[in-house]
Amino acid sequence: MYHNPVMLEECIEGLNINPDGVYADVTFGGGGHSRAILGRLVTGHLYAFDQDEDAAKNAFDDPRFTFIPQNFKYFKNFIQLYHNGKIDGVIADLGVSSHQFDTPEKGFSTRFDGHLDMRMSQSNPTDAATIVNTYDQTDLARILSLYGEVQQAHLVAADIVMARDNEPIETTEELKAAVARRLPRGRENKVLAQIFQALRIEVNQELEALTAFLSQCADVLNPGGRLVVMSYHSLEDRLVKNFMKTGNAEGKEEKDFFGNLLTPYKLITRKPTVPSDEEMERNSRARSAKLRIAERK
Ligand SMILES: C[S@@+](CC[C@H](N)C(=O)[O-])C[C@H]1O[C@@H](n2cnc3c(N)ncnc32)[C@H](O)[C@@H]1O
Repeated sequence: MYHNPVMLEECIEGLNINPDGVYADVTFGGGGHSRAILGRLVTGHLYAFDQDEDAAKNAFDDPRFTFIPQNFKYFKNFIQLYHNGKIDGVIADLGVSSHQFDTPEKGFSTRFDGHLDMRMSQSNPTDAATIVNTYDQTDLARILSLYGEVQQAHLVAADIVMARDNEPIETTEELKAAVARRLPRGRENKVLAQIFQALRIEVNQELEALTAFLSQCADVLNPGGRLVVMSYHSLEDRLVKNFMKTGNAEGKEEKDFFGNLLTPYKLITRKPTVPSDEEMERNSRARSAKLRIAERK
């Protein structure tokens, strides 16, 4: 199984699909959400993005479908190039796929030994080993604290620097050994996962890509078009919430002369939707998912 799609029904409902409309899935992965969208289209079209070369192998052979092997930070440019008009809905299911987590050579998982890679796209020149071996201690501490919410990140960063001074850290096991004495007993796996998450976010510049994508959506969507985003950690969710509420990353409210909030969207979900208990039980990767939906005014 390449990836088990999270909150599939809720996402498809959130897109409010017009069978003759044009849609984009900017995180194609195994195509779970895309397949369901395509199933609702008649004369409509679906554009799917993914920056991982492996995802391209899942692309559908269907005249109503176009796969765009690109980073979604270029969303607007590529939609203009392929479609030359606005679209009726876009879905983003952020983060990494199960396939990426479960492939040892990709280096995303704490469960396997593999090269410290963590790149979603092979065209990215910076892998996790480069970051671990070249960033200065202050930058490492900042990333660990900001992107992983790692406690005492400066001590973890100091241990990484000490270990790499002996020998470069090239594999997931070497990184685990370097930070081992900073892992609190009983919470080893949780803190390791936080460290790996922080590096992954930095390697793939995930927040920068998400900010770029969200800042283009209002221009790409038709009035009534839906923006459907599923995030998996609080920094992502805050960005999504701010853009949907105010149209900017900071969540800065702008008002017109009469005091009305100037925003490109009407909120469809005021609070994020989370998976049912049954789905969380069935799919552990759904546990941290938060779904937000907005409609272009
Ligand atoms: C959680 S998976 C999506 C799974 C998909 N919804 C499904 O049902 O199979 C996220 C996917 O988005 C891709 N991705 C993440 N960030 C991206 C970006 N900035 N540009 C393009 N693709 C990205 C990853 O490579 C991964 O395949």
